[in-house]
Formats: sequence, C-alpha cells, structure tokens
Amino acid sequence: MPIKEYMKEKAKLINSELETYLKRKSSERYIEALLGRSGYEYDTDAITKSILEPAWYLLDQGGKRWRPILSLLVIEALGKDPDNYIEFSIIPEVIHNATLIHDDIEDDSDMRRGNLAVHKKFGIDIANNLGDFMYFFPLRALVDSKKLDEKTKSRVLSFYIREMTRVALGQSVDIAWHRGLVNPYEINEKKYLQMAHDKTGVLSRFACELGGVIGGADDVTVEKLGTFGAMIGIAFQLEDDILNIYESDLSKNKGGVGDDISEGKVTMLVIHTLSNAKEEERKRLIEILSMHTKDKEPIEEAIAIITKYRSREYVEELAYKLVREAWGTVNSSLPDSEAKSKLKELVEYLINRSV
Ligand code: IPE
Ligand code: MG
Repeated sequence: MPIKEYMKEKAKLINSELETYLKRKSSERYIEALLGRSGYEYDTDAITKSILEPAWYLLDQGGKRWRPILSLLVIEALGKDPDNYIEFSIIPEVIHNATLIHDDIEDDSDMRRGNLAVHKKFGIDIANNLGDFMYFFPLRALVDSKKLDEKTKSRVLSFYIREMTRVALGQSVDIAWHRGLVNPYEINEKKYLQMAHDKTGVLSRFACELGGVIGGADDVTVEKLGTFGAMIGIAFQLEDDILNIYESDLSKNKGGVGDDISEGKVTMLVIHTLSNAKEEERKRLIEILSMHTKDKEPIEEAIAIITKYRSREYVEELAYKLVREAWGTVNSSLPDSEAKSKLKELVEYLINRSV
C-alpha cells in the first residue's frame, strides 16, 4: 500500500482512539475518569465549551498524524503488534497539537491548518489553558494501563519529563531570536540545529522513544531511536522553513507565504544568507526581520536576498543529509521487516512533502 494511503488508514484508527480519551461532550463520568470523584459538582457544560469544543475544532481539521504512526511503526519494527498499543500513540499527537496552540499564540499566527488558529477563534485565555490540558490528559492512557508494567510506565514518564522540558527550552530560544534579544550574528548553524531539535524534533523524538520503550528495546536502542526521530524532526522543520517562504499553494503552506519574515524568524535560510551575503544585504535582511511587518514589499525583498544566495538549495541539501544520517543511526538497530521498510517510506514522504 502506498505510504499516503497507509497513513490515511492509520490516521482513522488513531482518530477513533482519540475519541475514547477526549470526549466531544463532557459529563460527570468523563471528568471523574480523569480526576476522580470530587464530592462537589463539576461544571461539565463549561468544560465542554472551553476545553472539548476548541480541542476538537483543532483536531477535526486533520493533521497528518505522522508522529503516532512513527510510534506504531517503531513498536511493530521491534516485533510487537502495534494494534495492541494504539492508545499510547495518541500521547505524542495530543502533545504536538498542544504545542501548536501555544506556538500560534507565541508567534501571533492567524492561521493553522488553513483555518483560524485556536486563540484567534476562541481567545487567548481558552487557547492557553487548552494547551496546558493537552500536555497532561493523554498520559492517563499510560498511567491507567493494565498492559504495561510499572517499569515501562516509569521509563516512558522519564522521557516525557525530559522532552517536555526540552520543548519549552527550544521554544524559548526561538522566541528570544525573533524578539531580537540576542545578536543575530552570534546565531550559527549548530545553534539553529539545536533549537530546531528542541522545539520541533522533540515531538518525533518522543514518539520514537515511546515506541522504543513500549516495544521493549534496551536503553541504547531507545536512545538511537530517539536520535533518529529528532533528526527527522529537524529535517522536517528545515522543509517547513522552505515551504513558509516559497510555497504559495495553500494546501502545502497553510500559514501564509513569508509569515516567518513577518515574525522575524531566524531560520536556517536566514543564517545561511547572513553568513554569505554582502554587508549591505545582510544589514537589510536583519532590518526587515526586525520590522515585524506584514507588508508585501519588504517581505518579497527579504525573500529575494535569501534566494540570491541559494540558501534554499543549501537548506534542502542539509535536510536530505540529516535524513540519510538519521536512517543510518537506526538501520542497524532494527531487524529488516515490513515495518522497517514502511518507516523508511514515511521518512521519505515527510521530507518530500513539498514536491
Ligand atoms: C507543523 O507540523 C508544525 C511543525 C512542527 C513544523 P505538522 O505539519 O506535522 O502538523 P500537522 O499535525 O500535520 O498539521
Ligand atoms: Mg514558533
């Protein structure tokens, strides 16, 4: 089955599992399953309106669900039946969606997945709080499970704590950069890769660590799987940076062309241009980025400078290199299997989504 169809099939399973843990309408029973009995009275209607409806507003818009699929393929490649573990695969997906909600607030983005961002539709108060809720509730699938032993649960939780800490730090660096809190000339390729690893790579990293632990892999293998996931995530971020600037097809760039320029983002494209361009062009690019403008003209001017220095080609090549290296780190750790081939197809699909 071609990878796109395979992903659609799996997404259906993942979506129906999501419905088990995230109801569309709140009830005493549902809240009690999450929190236990209170003795008082939960305001279920308030919870439906300020948590469940906005959560489903975002989740119903789709999303490729590639992170849970990654977890499931890793489980399968380690020799276990992934259909027995679907409930755990929703963990990275829900957390990913929470980071999107928070990220759109932080970046002041209007659109997500082709529709209004959650905070534009429901307000910052609801969006922020919903993101918090979504960081934690999917963990119920883990802690309540009778399928996993305590050691496995605690291994997952320790990865969860590390990666949740990481994502906030990764975001903080991205924010400090676009706010102009550090000298842009001090930002280099390695710092960018670390930042992209921590803000984006972290979700696919966690998806692979989760799959690795549930699949029963040893510590060394789980670490390798995590690195693999992280590197794919970084490559994915590099592609996303390219799409943001060059892709006008709304089905592929669901934000808006040049949003990153308006937001003053220091992407790898910008870093490459800054280290290659002539002095006056470097200054101009930094000037435009610091303007945080939504005007078309300066945005196009910034893109023209980036294009002139062939930064797109450079970043594309770097993304491919990362994917090749990523594959190298796990290839020898997993025995050949159908799942392993699918894993490779998934990675290739992710990196080629612009073409
Ligand atoms: C978008 O991620 C944001 C980044 C991490 C670059 P995805 O493109 O995986 O988002 P969905 O879930 O498929 O919409
Ligand atoms: Mg951001």
